[in-house]
Amino acid sequence: MSVKDFDIQHFHTDKIGYLEYYDKVFSPIKNNVKKMLELGIYHGGSLQMWEKFFTKADIIGVDIEKIDVPNSGRVKIYQGDQKDTSLLNKITGDCAPEGFDIIIDDASHFGKETFISFIYLFKNSLKSKGVYVIEDWGTGYWPHFPDGRNITLDKHHVSYHLHTDTDYDFKQKGLVSKGPFLNNRRFQSHDYGMVGLIKQIIDELAIEQATLPQYTNKESTYKTFIENILITPGQCFIFKK
Ligand SMILES: C[S@@+](CC[C@H](N)C(=O)[O-])C[C@H]1O[C@@H](n2cnc3c(N)ncnc32)[C@H](O)[C@@H]1O
Repeated sequence: MSVKDFDIQHFHTDKIGYLEYYDKVFSPIKNNVKKMLELGIYHGGSLQMWEKFFTKADIIGVDIEKIDVPNSGRVKIYQGDQKDTSLLNKITGDCAPEGFDIIIDDASHFGKETFISFIYLFKNSLKSKGVYVIEDWGTGYWPHFPDGRNITLDKHHVSYHLHTDTDYDFKQKGLVSKGPFLNNRRFQSHDYGMVGLIKQIIDELAIEQATLPQYTNKESTYKTFIENILITPGQCFIFKK
């Protein structure tokens, strides 16, 4: 059975738009998954869906609210804040001392909190070859979201001058017009919130290039834990080495 085959209406969750990529990434590993952690439970529908999909796995959920989820016994719930690293440490020790196979962050969708959970869990609690998913990173483009930014170019932004001063005529070359990306503009959101975080994670992926000894005067390059990244408009899958 694939995630897509699920009668999603049966579960009280908003994951319907995300099943295509969950199917692509999780179906090949489904029988090997023993431990899964999801930050953000809400009504508990996603935990029940994962419990049904990963038939051999313990499913652990964390939420800042107190939430009970009926289940068959393989689901365990903790109440607490996703940025409380002592709680994350306790959950890892209690439930997955050898590490989680999959961790999904579907909790606050704030850059700072998501960053703290990611930094802690990716390094300390995710198995080698494990998958970490950050959902809903597009909140970083919403101007009404507390740490979101819209795409209006800020004149004080250094790249405004870089782009407007360029003598390369994007319009004349026919490279402009279809979408905001093709306007050759850097979005403010790149420096804030969830979009800023995703961009930093991309920098981390490429950090070995940025820290080559000839550029840093240090003896060795920085080694990243990230193997590769798959990004969709709503999900960022980060694969651990
Ligand atoms: C989008 S809902 C989760 C939906 C659920 N994963 C699903 O797919 O059905 C977000 C949840 O994150 C919780 N949350 C918000 N901020 C949090 C935080 N700082 N730490 C832990 N949970 C948080 C909210 O209480 C809410 O239940």
